[in-house]
Amino acid sequence: MQAGLTIALSKGRIFRDSLPLLAEAGVVPLDDPEKSRKLILRTNRPDVSLVVIRAADVPTYVEYGAADLGVAGKDVLMEHEGDGLYEPLDLQIARCRMMVAGRAGEEGAHPRRLRVATKYVRTARAFYAERGVQAEVIKLYGSMELAPLVGLADRIVDLVDTGNTLRANGLVPMDLIAPISSRLVVNKASMKMKHAAVKALTADLAAAVARRARGEGG
Ligand code: ATP
Ligand code: PRP
Repeated sequence: MQAGLTIALSKGRIFRDSLPLLAEAGVVPLDDPEKSRKLILRTNRPDVSLVVIRAADVPTYVEYGAADLGVAGKDVLMEHEGDGLYEPLDLQIARCRMMVAGRAGEEGAHPRRLRVATKYVRTARAFYAERGVQAEVIKLYGSMELAPLVGLADRIVDLVDTGNTLRANGLVPMDLIAPISSRLVVNKASMKMKHAAVKALTADLAAAVARRARGEGG
């Protein structure tokens, strides 16, 4: 790990929503990851660089110290199995809900062992185990909404924001598993070895989040 700070972000929604907060904390990337093919982005601060990776890989990079900090959805963190991360700040961006959904009219008790299709296998297993419901969890990598329509599963566990994707596919939300937002995560060794720099950036981001919550800025 280098002397400066490396922050891991994913392309798309998290990068877009993190940008204004990072800018308020004085960090502005010199390249746009939607246009550039670069995976390491320099910023206006010579001591801060960004790495742009898949959303689900952010906790891994941070846990292994390949990045000092990262921004990851709570959904991704709930699926991640390591424990080498601190989660000091809720950035309150990319907000949505992790929900169980299924076909309209099939909300009631289920005759046989429930089949649940999801990208969030660990979260789904924990949810049904806690309720003592027998569930067979089927791992998918996307387009979960299709599974109940073609008889692959009785339920899905997926993220819901506006509900448009569910509605468009004749599905209804059934149970809320957890509210989701993106969190700042920090490598445990970096928290010790680069304490001043990590603490300063975390405090600046926290101030930006608080200002936004009060309706100022961002
Ligand atoms: P990848 O594209 O790498 O497979 P992904 O599809 O999960 O990953 P995004 O769609 O950018 O990547 O989602 C990143 C994060 O944003 C998710 O982990 C979740 O926390 C949040 N998120 C996902 N969908 C929504 C949504 N519809 N509304 C708000 N936040 C969302
Ligand atoms: C997410 C999620 C749902 C959808 C929910 O997908 O997986 O499909 O958003 O949002 P809604 O309730 O507002 O319709 P996203 O649009 O990020 O696509 P992706 O997972 O394929 O990237």
